[in-house]
Amino acid sequence: MRSYFYSLALVSLVACTATPPPSTPAGTSLAAPIPAATPLVTEKAMVVAAHPEATRVGVEILRKGGNAYDAAVAVQFALAVVLPAAGNIGGGGFVLYRGADGSEGALDFRETAPAAATRDMYLNAQGNIIPNLSTLGHRAAGVPGTVAGMVELHRKLGKLPWREVVQPAVELAANGVKLTEKEAAGLNSQRDAFAKVNPYNAYLKPAIWKAGDVMQLPELAATLGRVRDLGRTGFYEGQTADFILTEMQRGRGLISRADLKSYQPKWRTPLHGSYRGHDVLAFPPPSSGGVALLQMLQMLEPYDLRKAGWHSPQAVHWITEAQRRVYADRATYLGDPDFGQVPVARLLDNKYNQQRMTSTLPYRATASAQVTSGAGLPTYESDQTTHYNIVDAAGNAVSCTTTLNGAYGSKVVVAGAGFILNNEMDDFSSKPGTPNAYGLVGGTANAIAPGKRMLSSMTPTIFTKHGKLVLVVGTPGGSTIITSVLQASLNILDYGMNAQQAVAAPRLHHQWLPDQIDVEAGALLPAAEDTLRARGYVLKPRSPWGRIEVIRVLPDGRLEGGADPRGDDTAGGY
Ligand code: GLY
Repeated sequence: MRSYFYSLALVSLVACTATPPPSTPAGTSLAAPIPAATPLVTEKAMVVAAHPEATRVGVEILRKGGNAYDAAVAVQFALAVVLPAAGNIGGGGFVLYRGADGSEGALDFRETAPAAATRDMYLNAQGNIIPNLSTLGHRAAGVPGTVAGMVELHRKLGKLPWREVVQPAVELAANGVKLTEKEAAGLNSQRDAFAKVNPYNAYLKPAIWKAGDVMQLPELAATLGRVRDLGRTGFYEGQTADFILTEMQRGRGLISRADLKSYQPKWRTPLHGSYRGHDVLAFPPPSSGGVALLQMLQMLEPYDLRKAGWHSPQAVHWITEAQRRVYADRATYLGDPDFGQVPVARLLDNKYNQQRMTSTLPYRATASAQVTSGAGLPTYESDQTTHYNIVDAAGNAVSCTTTLNGAYGSKVVVAGAGFILNNEMDDFSSKPGTPNAYGLVGGTANAIAPGKRMLSSMTPTIFTKHGKLVLVVGTPGGSTIITSVLQASLNILDYGMNAQQAVAAPRLHHQWLPDQIDVEAGALLPAAEDTLRARGYVLKPRSPWGRIEVIRVLPDGRLEGGADPRGDDTAGGY
């Protein structure tokens, strides 16, 4: 009897999802208009980064004869000075590269949990999360990986002397940084947090910061000078390590001398996928981004997105259903591969991803509650991270995403050393299966363990076609990183946008839970919103997110740059 009623219910559900709801106008796609935007086009080489000074430094290194890897090191250190919200030496990141000769590599310089970290370190005696402990202050910091990562990248692939690629950042810090309006506003917004965890810091001015103010960073200049002169020893040992350890004692942090000395970046094997005739090179775990992006591309390839129209209800429907399913998988299966088995091959099996999409209803949203049987749920990542792309005159390409996690990380400025420590420990699941302070939750694959890397969404990506470089892409944005990289890629490959249009276009985001589509202003026509609501989608207006950077190689070999207008991002080159 029961199953009879279930069958009846199913029949009526299928009937009502197989026909367009009344608000779907016939014969029109309700595609949104694509705003015009002009990209920078250069003949030979290009850098796109989140601050004009970082881009300038990268281009100068290229002009001096440095390759893309030299420029990446110079840009990374420059961002540590001019973009304190996310640029860093106190954080970590991922570099994906493709050499002009077809060589490729993925360098993981993600932070690690200190040896003294424990699974329950952010829980009280009752097993509840202690507010702010994983986000603000010394205990929130993982062992920084950036300096070791840059040393390793340069050792393997750099051409210019190390000193020469670090020196521009030393000069930027020694001369002081002129703040942009956005940076001044960012620093002012974090005044209280900085004051809470630091008796002193260069980032906390007695008065309110204004655009044009010059921030003096002599301690950071000295630290970068030690890195320039001594390489990784200049950070992980000696004076800089002493400053970090004193800071840890002051704030009861967990990073030890042994943690610093033993930190190692790791070369990982890049992932390969395909999309509409392109080879897609992506970052493997502990990034969740590469796996998730390749899954989404597999799920979407059978659909004619172009014919449906950009941000048309039908295209949004397909894209959202792919995102929903992939984020459910991400939550359940992904974590540090050195600490547990991550089923990458299964997740990237095309048959599996096609099968996942068979539960998509033609005119009805699938409820997220019906999309998982997994044990875990998605992790939270804050949206303060930064990305840069570089292509040099020889055709070597670098796509690097680097992060402190939250804006200005843990807000702890290492006294005497002048740099900000990350709060990347919050990217672990502090209490697997339970919502964290942000209302999101995580799975056991991403539980805290000593020496483990926390799961990331960073998605540096490179597309090639017939062995030729086509597209270099990446962005900050926490859990929105993956969907932003997807959209920028679709904007170019399916919708024919230029690089600047692709990064400027308003965005949408769905991450399974919460079950809603985040909508940036202008992303959808009002009639398209009505149609999506009629299909059962919940639409949530959201202020702009992400700072996508794109370099696209034009058919004639010139380079086209897209720098996200939501930030101070800048493309430069020659
Ligand atoms: N902390 C941002 C990320 O790694 O995804």
